[in-house]
Amino acid sequence: MKHSARAVAHANIALAKYWGKSDASLNLPAVPSLSLTLDGLTSETRVVFDSDLRSDEVWLNGALLSDRPRQRVIEVLDKVRKAKDLGLRARVQSTNGFATASGLASSASGFAALALAATRAVGLELDPSEQSALARSASASAARSIWGGFVALEAGAHAAEPIAGPDHWRLVMLIAVVDRCKKSVGSTEAMNRTRETSPYYGAWLDAAPALYARVRGAVVGRDLEALGEAMEQSTLLMHASMLGARPFILYPKPATLGVIELVLSLRRSGIPAYFTMDAGPQVKVLTLPEYEDQVKGSLSELPGVVTTIRATPGPDARVIESFTS
Ligand code: DP6
Repeated sequence: MKHSARAVAHANIALAKYWGKSDASLNLPAVPSLSLTLDGLTSETRVVFDSDLRSDEVWLNGALLSDRPRQRVIEVLDKVRKAKDLGLRARVQSTNGFATASGLASSASGFAALALAATRAVGLELDPSEQSALARSASASAARSIWGGFVALEAGAHAAEPIAGPDHWRLVMLIAVVDRCKKSVGSTEAMNRTRETSPYYGAWLDAAPALYARVRGAVVGRDLEALGEAMEQSTLLMHASMLGARPFILYPKPATLGVIELVLSLRRSGIPAYFTMDAGPQVKVLTLPEYEDQVKGSLSELPGVVTTIRATPGPDARVIESFTS
């Protein structure tokens, strides 16, 4: 007996950052965040609950996972099995259309696709908000990839909520890839270390809600200057909180700062372009479609930029196939 489903979800980049947990065991975020789901940056996950399997198998981009990465996936499968009172083991195969090439985090799109595929495979009917809560239990940013467009996750919330669809504002995000190495510290460990050891963590918690409110207001009002300023501040305060951790966490590389300098000089010449970074060295540059070519051209001339990936607001996560045999 096999229960199978395949789902796709898109990566999201936070415009107002989530960094820190109010409850580590439930994986609830300590601060509100707001993201943009990106077209093109897609994860596809197939889940097959199979009576022939003796244990769960988890594959990512063709490689078998073990230890904690495998366990995170199994915890989602266990929740689904418990809800349906099911004992079957599963094979999970996930591929990212972008991770190997870009060095970008793929856990958000991967866990959103996993939540959809695993629940659909066994016929567990969840609404999008319940899907979001399931994805969030594995990785909080994944809660936001259930929806397309602009998506919020409030502090302490179990599920994210959509703010506006992808057609609300046709922004362009250019991802300047400056380093393809695997990051030294994962985001979960980095944010926990920040909370435990950084004297700046409290300042981050104090500042984040107002930054989120500014980002949200700017998204609703389609005000790129206001959005860009608040997004950059959210980025820099998040990174400042990590710099204060012991041992310190430093994701930017020299080329990261080169891209930031370029963004500032583009702005001085009248081009609306704003930067953000996550738990890694790549820089994401937000601009409007009419300035895209100029920004992309300048980025590609910069030494240290390996490649530039173009992304625009993307759609909801969705199931693309399911069957029982
Ligand atoms: C910097 O969602 O990867 O990308 O909940 O521990 O899995 P866990 O963390 P994760 O953290 C993402 C942090 C960020 C900012 C953001 O996406 O909001």
